[in-house]
Amino acid sequence: MLIWKTFLTYKEYKLNNKLSVLFIGDIVGEPGMNCVKELIPGLIQKYKAEFVVINGENADKGKGLTEKEVGELFEIGAHIITTGNHIWDNWKSKPILASNPKVIRPLNYPPGNVGLGYTFHTLEDETQICVLQLQGRTYMQTIDCPFRAADFALKAIQEKTKNIIVDFHADATAEKIAMGWHLDGRVSAIIGTHTHVQTADACILPNGTAYITDVGMTGPYNSVVGLKKEIALKRLIHQIPYKYEMGEGDARIAGVNVIIDITTGQALKIESFVQPEFVKSVFEQFES
Ligand SMILES: [Fe+2]
Ligand SMILES: [Fe+2]
Repeated sequence: MLIWKTFLTYKEYKLNNKLSVLFIGDIVGEPGMNCVKELIPGLIQKYKAEFVVINGENADKGKGLTEKEVGELFEIGAHIITTGNHIWDNWKSKPILASNPKVIRPLNYPPGNVGLGYTFHTLEDETQICVLQLQGRTYMQTIDCPFRAADFALKAIQEKTKNIIVDFHADATAEKIAMGWHLDGRVSAIIGTHTHVQTADACILPNGTAYITDVGMTGPYNSVVGLKKEIALKRLIHQIPYKYEMGEGDARIAGVNVIIDITTGQALKIESFVQPEFVKSVFEQFES
């Protein structure tokens, strides 16, 4: 059985009604952009990914997106770009949200804000897939309820497709886990973003939804979640604001690959990755 799977051709793969999705975590600044541009072709090839979602809320120097990053991310293979709370920090981002339905923001911001909270994409074989973004409220802005927003949106989305990827942009792990249980069996995957550190809990929930609390950051790890480490330490030790400066160095890409059965919308597999992998032993250089 294992040997058969290993030698599955692309055509057989398609015939089996599986869809391979690549979700890349928050791109932070130029280090994150350079890293994703360099590594995503290999990842798309490795996972035979047909649908790519990238969270770009920090792509322009840590805050929001401009047309430049949007153009580059679509050029390297993104189908949909999600964002988050920092999209509103960059005045160049609002016109993008207002005009490009493939760049979305959390649905549960109050009515009157520009942009879409969910969007659809049709693949070459006519498969429809939806990406929905929600934002948590614990330790964040007290926007509308993400749980009720999800229920409301799913009524409309499920009339079109069962293949639904949710980017839950939230700070508190408990709120993210709760959303996992709330949506299990109703969406294909719930991918946590915002906290920039990949969690070790990627799994398939009992009713068939792929889940991870946080997918992690694509950006400079020689930093404090993207912020220059010296600035982060001053902020924490002095307890006063210091101007935001991007971290530099040790750029890595973080993401997950999710395989969906498009006949049911259920997830069959979730695999998380960070590339290059973290050094976990000083003895590694002597091994091989
Ligand atoms: Fe972020
Ligand atoms: Fe965020």
